[in-house]
Amino acid sequence: MSSRVRIAVVGCGLIGAEHLRAWRAVARVAGKHFEIAAVCDSNGALAESSALEVRRWQTTPVTVHTSYEDLLDGSIDGVDICLPTYLHEQVACSALDAGVHAMVEKPLAMTIQAGRRMRDTAVRANRVLSMAEDHRRTAAIRTTRWLVHETGLIGTPELIQAQRVRYEPNPTRTGWRTQRALGGGGWAIDNGAHLIDSLAYIVGPLSSVTAVAKRLHNTPVFHANGDTRIDEREDFLSALMTFESGTTGIFSCVSSLPHADDFSFALRGTTGAIVDDGGQLFHAPLPEARVHARGGNRRSLRDFHKDFLASLSPREHEKYFPFGLTHGFAIECAEFLLAIRDGAQVEIGADTALNTLATSLAFYESAIAGRTVSVTEVLNGSLSEYQKTIKVGPLESDFKRV
Ligand SMILES: NC(=O)c1ccc[n+]([C@@H]2O[C@H](COP(=O)([O-])OP(=O)(O)OC[C@H]3O[C@@H](n4cnc5c(N)ncnc54)[C@H](O)[C@@H]3O)[C@@H](O)[C@H]2O)c1
Repeated sequence: MSSRVRIAVVGCGLIGAEHLRAWRAVARVAGKHFEIAAVCDSNGALAESSALEVRRWQTTPVTVHTSYEDLLDGSIDGVDICLPTYLHEQVACSALDAGVHAMVEKPLAMTIQAGRRMRDTAVRANRVLSMAEDHRRTAAIRTTRWLVHETGLIGTPELIQAQRVRYEPNPTRTGWRTQRALGGGGWAIDNGAHLIDSLAYIVGPLSSVTAVAKRLHNTPVFHANGDTRIDEREDFLSALMTFESGTTGIFSCVSSLPHADDFSFALRGTTGAIVDDGGQLFHAPLPEARVHARGGNRRSLRDFHKDFLASLSPREHEKYFPFGLTHGFAIECAEFLLAIRDGAQVEIGADTALNTLATSLAFYESAIAGRTVSVTEVLNGSLSEYQKTIKVGPLESDFKRV
């Protein structure tokens, strides 16, 4: 492709704004290769103000739309989809069918059936389908993987402990996220998609999950339009995770038990451990995590970052940090750009994204079925009881009955 790649950002809410900042960072180092040709949001005022932001740093025109269908007329090469999860399948498939490449925010979709349709459409249309997950592309996660796989400092990973126990009687995030039919579920499919993807990247895929999910409190959520609904996400999720490598994981995420405020993450191997108890569970381990290794050696993950960088060949460096970018969101955007321009491979293509989705859904399928569930049976569609409730709607299948 000789001319500049024309990108449209669809959805200018919380993460759409973050993506526009990321595209700006890419423009600073690779601006000659692309332009933000359009922004789209059903909220016209938000679409307008987002375009204004782009015009601060881009001289070529950016058009403003309230309907994504406007973008499928051949004027756009790639759509960056930052829409609520229930719209991912519809918008990505329409774009791909129209010959437009698509990058979709995590999670790929709400069900395996939807994710498969997206993958099949991309294959049929011979277009890129990438999942935007920023965390695995950060230096902290790249360094963690390197420590585990290349240095021998940690030994064989045996145990992952991931716990977040907080008291959040009034959730601040409202809107589509709190409705199962629009968001697909709670932690395991939403923020948990980051942790699940990172863990699979670091120690390999999960093979099975034994989970308990509950809604302990019926928390009212007040919507901007005046509606009051009950938060349909789980507020208690606990699971035993088994990885294909043999590593065992213990996960616990609770937001409705008082006197609780505790985060902790640890990856414990036969000779060392990476421990993060001050950060953010779904993005763990963060650079401040401590690395405990043989001989009482204790350094932060950040300290190992330069050793990791020094271990990379120039080609690997460019692959992990295209154009020298180091921010996860900017890296995923640059990678999408290079996939469209040069046909380069994206790191999280449809199959990897489907695996992450199947793992997220395995938590809920296990909670509903009351048994250990393999990721394979979710991925191949032989178990989908929970996913059927996503379409049926709200409280038809309450986790409390598990
Ligand atoms: N990577 C991350 O760290 C991260 C963080 C937050 C959200 N996300 C993901 O990003 C996606 C969006 O989440 P968000 O928090 O930005 O949501 P949001 O509600 O803040 O933003 C969504 C935007 O889409 C617009 N919209 C809704 N329907 C539309 C339509 N039919 N056509 C055009 N625009 C429409 C809304 O007006 C809104 O501005 C979700 O899939 C979520 O899981 C990822």
